[in-house]
Amino acid sequence: AGRLKGKDFITLRDWTNDEINMLLDASADLKRKFYMDIPTPILPYKTIFLMFFEQSTRTRNSMEAGIAQLGGHANFLDTSTMQISHGEVARDTAKILSSYGHGIACRNCNWQEGNKYLNDMAANSSTPIMNLQCDLFHPMQGIADLMTIKEKHPDTERLKVSIIWAYATSHKKPISVPLTQILLFPRYKMDVTLAYPEGFELPDWAIEEAVENAKKYGGGFRITHDMEEAYRDADIVIPKNWGSWSSKNPHVDIEDFKDWKCIGKLMEMASKDVYYMHALPADRGNEVEDSVIDGDHSIVYQEAENRLHTAKGVMSLIL
Ligand code: CP
Repeated sequence: AGRLKGKDFITLRDWTNDEINMLLDASADLKRKFYMDIPTPILPYKTIFLMFFEQSTRTRNSMEAGIAQLGGHANFLDTSTMQISHGEVARDTAKILSSYGHGIACRNCNWQEGNKYLNDMAANSSTPIMNLQCDLFHPMQGIADLMTIKEKHPDTERLKVSIIWAYATSHKKPISVPLTQILLFPRYKMDVTLAYPEGFELPDWAIEEAVENAKKYGGGFRITHDMEEAYRDADIVIPKNWGSWSSKNPHVDIEDFKDWKCIGKLMEMASKDVYYMHALPADRGNEVEDSVIDGDHSIVYQEAENRLHTAKGVMSLIL
């Protein structure tokens, strides 16, 4: 695992399956120790800067709690209070912060800027850079999702996973969660279905890479615009769509997509042991019925909890 020290965590595309497996093992070990109250002072006296351009509940708090549990210090930075507001560039911010501490994590979901910002930081930081979500990738969520799926299904081969999702590149909103999932899950031999209404396409390069990953690793990947087909016999469903953005996004009219809400009737079409996942926050009522998200098939809280263990796993390996 020492060979991962110093590695950036910007996208799981840069991590091999062996490295991701190492990360899953470290996360599971840290989870077990957390439950048993075994101290894990892996990062004593280390300072990690957490820069947020946007709001967060899970990401910020899993990182802050995780750093404390590893014996380090988290320095939360609301970027609106930094000189970034006066135009200070990523290069200078990275050089300065990395000279003060041991790692920098950043959430910047600005469309066509966030990923570039993180890469600019990585090119200029003397410490590893961690992506806490950008416009293209959410690797912390992706690895927590993978851990959660593997806890439920240790063998992921041929698992039918349906990502039912309706964001669109043209809407200039972050597409990081479905994009991360479609690239990652076929690498673990899952049979991935991406379902969305026409007009909500993810970028061509991502679809091509998902298809290539499926071929290379022995998984599956296909697209459908028929939502019921995505639910049918699914082992895992990950519906997350227009609901949470509709009030803020002039391109999305909630009425147009109200049928894409996850309801009990649709869940009944899935496998009898289907699991419902959601990165959260969920727009209850608009994108999912309470009876589903609070029901027996929902594993959203396990998924959210795993954000802590996987964040610690990432930091324990790269810092
Ligand atoms: N899933 C997720 O990233 O949650 P937050 O936006 O609350 O961090």
